Amino acid sequence: MPLNQRVHIHPAVLTRAAHLIMNAPSTRPALAAIAALVLFTLATAAWAAGRDDIVIADFEGKDFGAWQATGTAFGQGPARGTLPGQMTVEGFQGQGLVNSFHGGDDSTGTLTSPPFRIERRAINFLIGGGKYPGETCINLVVDGKPVRTATGPNDRPGGSERLDWQGWNVAELEGKNASIEIVDKRTGGWGHINVDQIAQSDRLRAEVPAHRELVAEARFLHLPVKTGAPKRRMSLSGDGTVLREFDIELADGTPDFWAFCDLAPFRGRRLMIDVNALPVESRALDAITQGDEIKGAPVYSEAHRPQFHFTSRRGWLNDPNGLVYFRGEYHLFYQHNPYGWDWGNMHWGHAVSPDLVHWKELPIALYPRQYGDWAFSGSAVVDHANTGGFQKGDEPPLVAAFTSTGRGECIVFSNDRGRTWTEYEKNPVVKHQGRDPRLLWHEPTKRWVMAVYDELQEKRWIAFYTSADLKSWEFRSRIDGFYECPDLFALTVAGNPSVRKWVLYAADGQYLLGDFDGTTFQPDSAGKQRLWYGNFYAAQTYSDSPGGRRVQVGWGTGITFPGMPFNQQMTVPCTLTLRNTPDGLRMHAEPVDEIASLRGRKRAWTNRTVAPGDGLPDAIEGDLFEIRADLAADGASAFGFDVRGVPVVYDMKKRELACQGKTAPLAPVDGRVRLQVLVDRGSIEVFGNGGQVALSVGVTPADDQRTLTFFTRDGNVRIHALDVFALKSAWDGR
Ligand code: FRU
Repeated sequence: MPLNQRVHIHPAVLTRAAHLIMNAPSTRPALAAIAALVLFTLATAAWAAGRDDIVIADFEGKDFGAWQATGTAFGQGPARGTLPGQMTVEGFQGQGLVNSFHGGDDSTGTLTSPPFRIERRAINFLIGGGKYPGETCINLVVDGKPVRTATGPNDRPGGSERLDWQGWNVAELEGKNASIEIVDKRTGGWGHINVDQIAQSDRLRAEVPAHRELVAEARFLHLPVKTGAPKRRMSLSGDGTVLREFDIELADGTPDFWAFCDLAPFRGRRLMIDVNALPVESRALDAITQGDEIKGAPVYSEAHRPQFHFTSRRGWLNDPNGLVYFRGEYHLFYQHNPYGWDWGNMHWGHAVSPDLVHWKELPIALYPRQYGDWAFSGSAVVDHANTGGFQKGDEPPLVAAFTSTGRGECIVFSNDRGRTWTEYEKNPVVKHQGRDPRLLWHEPTKRWVMAVYDELQEKRWIAFYTSADLKSWEFRSRIDGFYECPDLFALTVAGNPSVRKWVLYAADGQYLLGDFDGTTFQPDSAGKQRLWYGNFYAAQTYSDSPGGRRVQVGWGTGITFPGMPFNQQMTVPCTLTLRNTPDGLRMHAEPVDEIASLRGRKRAWTNRTVAPGDGLPDAIEGDLFEIRADLAADGASAFGFDVRGVPVVYDMKKRELACQGKTAPLAPVDGRVRLQVLVDRGSIEVFGNGGQVALSVGVTPADDQRTLTFFTRDGNVRIHALDVFALKSAWDGR
């Protein structure tokens, strides 16, 4: 940074810099002292000046006043926030701003200020939108030539509508006449410009790289996060080596929540936190503290924390990964952003459970190898025969395959029950265009199989590779028509242990039944079958589950938790079976029996007829329920449950289940519909006719809505049996 910019730095920054210099283990203390003195003098000089800002334009008027507009992009005057068809514009001040989205993205124009005299050392402004120099920009024009320019950041998927501070150092131009020109010349695709609050100032509001040094002395580093704040690139280094690096929407002010970085591996070390850019006056790094507990309200007691669906203590989750049972523990690894509420920074989070109901979150299992080389989805197995030679000690190792986005399909192994993982030194083991390796042991051929999502010749496939040792893999075959996150396993047919069918599905859950000989999948039918509906994606089943039970967990995609320090949940673990139906053999999913351990107070009704308006006597109050119902319409066109104000409806005419606009087809059997409904704080899951269909729906009931009632429309319903259980929290008494 040139020295003439330094005089405009906020004293907090200088104090921080001086602090760093004073605390550096410098071998040249005299130099450090001189540097500190220089910084102190500069700070004093800058702040002695202290002149008021001169506002050039705040765009609060009805029109642009003396500013001249050409073209159509800027409209007749300042925009009042977001324009029709535009994503939400944020970060401007007051009501109005310059917004060149008038007429959409293809409109062009310029907006030029009247001349003014440069009387301060800096010109600051809020700016958002396209990062297209010369096309979507703001220019400072002196003597007819642009002498400074800036663009929006365009740093978010779909384009950035958020305005942030930028500024120019114009000290050398003081006394000159100038004008400001805002330009949108861009056509063809996203790109416009948002500007507000242009002012002359003695304080440059630009962004600069920021640093802070500390000694790791507690378990967690608390990082303030504000969702929607500009994404910063943060790193943590020790002795010049980058240890962690990620994107973070760093709060500069009150955070939405505190994320954490686990300092356990770095205890006692001197660490440097680096952020690529922060406003000069930012206090964000000062807000970072350390502590032995996660910062914020006690974890799992938050108002909307699901009580029996897995959510991460902090941050985002998506796909379940590495589902494997080993020595009394069901492992749940998962796609995880530990530092934000949205997708990003993919790690493998980790939790374990003795019963698929009570989970304990453990430290992160897989960190990205480096920024940009993320740990995407994959699976895990127990290598009982130590085919890979990874075993150390008496127990067989766990072996996982995951996609390293920078390298390909990679193998890692663990000899401490999944707590720590080591990379196979010859990674990647498979290189191709694709991701999400699913490992399985194929007993008849006594080989490992990897089913992996594969992109080739503009098509989407599942490719099958085989290996004797989990290290060297041979391509065998591929089948098209599947997208992301494959799973492949055999199920016994209708409970007959001697007959098995193979199931193949990918992220959307739609499956093919068929045969798999260890190299090729031969489907029984052309069309796929569907069991899951609603918020459900990227499911996986457990390897090595006791008793051969096939347990599936999915990602409840799109189930959001606004205002909470976490986002997205897993669906309830389900047992998969293959049963005969009038339409043929179909996979069924039912919540694992262990869920019954959460049952509390029960109300039961049998053999009674309910008329419209009757409701249920003694409706149960609460926020967590399990309902088991065996019902038959006796004139009713629709019936169901009002769950905390959210209707769960069975429609007799449409023969479908419906909740919050999500539906699943379900035909009555002998005139009867059997339902199992699980109600948690963020979701309702409905299983129809013994799990022939499953519907997962994200819901956000009002906090004061706590009753459950039954209803019927246009006629009666025969209740053969109805049990309603209040469920207990799985987090209690952990
Ligand atoms: C599916 C998916 C996977 C990928 C992962 C990244 O949801 O896109 O294909 O590995 O998420 O988080």
